[in-house]
Amino acid sequence: MSKIAVCPGSFDPVTLGHLDIIKRGSDIFDKVYVCILNNSSKQPLFTVEERISLLKEVTKDMPNVEVDSFKGLLIDYAASKNAKVVLRGLRAVSDFEYEMQITAMNRKLNENIETLFMMTNSQYSFLSSSIVKEAAKYHGNITDLVPEVVERELQKKFKKART
Ligand code: PNS
Repeated sequence: MSKIAVCPGSFDPVTLGHLDIIKRGSDIFDKVYVCILNNSSKQPLFTVEERISLLKEVTKDMPNVEVDSFKGLLIDYAASKNAKVVLRGLRAVSDFEYEMQITAMNRKLNENIETLFMMTNSQYSFLSSSIVKEAAKYHGNITDLVPEVVERELQKKFKKART
């Protein structure tokens, strides 16, 4: 039986921290669906199509990774792909409460799907899409935090917003 995982998130935009988890996940699982879902507490900067395109670009060398999006519950998406595992990155203690809450809810919704956590590489433990956007907005240096293509797209977004 093949081992299938879903790596869910907002990916607004994908960072090197996300990519580290996706890559390590793709080394463990036969298939990883990287799925953009809606986080109702966030207002995205990039459209779903833009985020898909960036994720496809940065995972193009990972043949067992497929990029997707879904409007609905993560657990329903995972079941539709026969995935038994939801893979999430954990950066620091500050992530723990939030992750515990959604994990408990997901387990209540479907107890057959497990959530697995992978500690992010320590060089990315402070990194988030939000902090990258904040730095990019004020033209801070975000090299080494996001893939090059994402850096360019962020620069375009904030250039456009200023004119
Ligand atoms: O990158 P994020 O914003 O931390 O990812 C959170 C995300 C999108 C995975 C989460 O909000 C999610 O699963 N949204 C879909 C709706 C859902 O299933 N919510 C959890 C149970 S109510």
